[in-house]
Amino acid sequence: MPWNPEQYDKFKQERSAPVNDLLSLIKVRSGMKVIDLGCGTGEHTRRLADLLPKSAVIGIDSSTEMLAKTKQFERDGLSFSLGSFEDFEDEYDLIFSNAALQWRGNHEQLIPTLWKHLSVGGQIVVQMPKNQDHPSHRLARQLSQSDFAEYFPIQNNPTERFDWVLPIERYAEILFSLGGMDIVAFLKVYPHILENSDAIVEWTKGTLLVPFMEHLPTEQQPVFLERYRTVLRTEIPGSPVFYGFKRILFSAIKS
Ligand SMILES: C[S@@+](CC[C@H](N)C(=O)[O-])C[C@H]1O[C@@H](n2cnc3c(N)ncnc32)[C@H](O)[C@@H]1O
Repeated sequence: MPWNPEQYDKFKQERSAPVNDLLSLIKVRSGMKVIDLGCGTGEHTRRLADLLPKSAVIGIDSSTEMLAKTKQFERDGLSFSLGSFEDFEDEYDLIFSNAALQWRGNHEQLIPTLWKHLSVGGQIVVQMPKNQDHPSHRLARQLSQSDFAEYFPIQNNPTERFDWVLPIERYAEILFSLGGMDIVAFLKVYPHILENSDAIVEWTKGTLLVPFMEHLPTEQQPVFLERYRTVLRTEIPGSPVFYGFKRILFSAIKS
């Protein structure tokens, strides 16, 4: 999928709040072997690495566009490579993933698979958006099913992703069934005050809309964006606007 790191980084400051919460869940030990799944530009992987003394941290990502930005964050004990979280090797003391696992379905199977890559005493720490019922997501879905339906197939439709993230309690149950200890699982609303609803479009262009754009012919992309902007302005008028963004965070230790 063609990610655009510059577009993604437009809301860098807003996107750092859940990372702070995620990092605070980590039980810091020295000398850990760590993997960051879907590391993106690597900025948050660097923050993770800087938190963990004498540890070996690797960030993997399937996007060459995002990985191209990681060079600036490399240092001894921190490296990045092309890879997918469906298919990586070895055992880790910490599996970390921020805002990435939602791009993959079947979490009932994915979480147990990731768990197999955890060493005994190791920790998994994950954050994912759970904002699919917000107008920002709902309206994109509606357009893809109405005015622009001809471009969106029934199968492999980007809106399928809206159902991939499970209810928060389900992650806690899965972690418990795997023998997880010290389970933490919560949903948090991150409050963002943006100039207007057009700013929400700038936000979603960096993430949610990436696969939508992939389905549209080049000349239809600005048409879709303009329609999306218009319906969003009607539903979320005024300035400033409140963009309440729900996210799921969970963590557990392997016994
Ligand atoms: C929203 S970005 C988050 C990046 C980073 N974790 C952060 O905190 O800024 C999601 C990242 O997940 C990556 N990604 C999506 N599916 C993936 C997969 N199956 N395997 C590895 N990376 C994947 C994307 O390429 C993208 O860089």
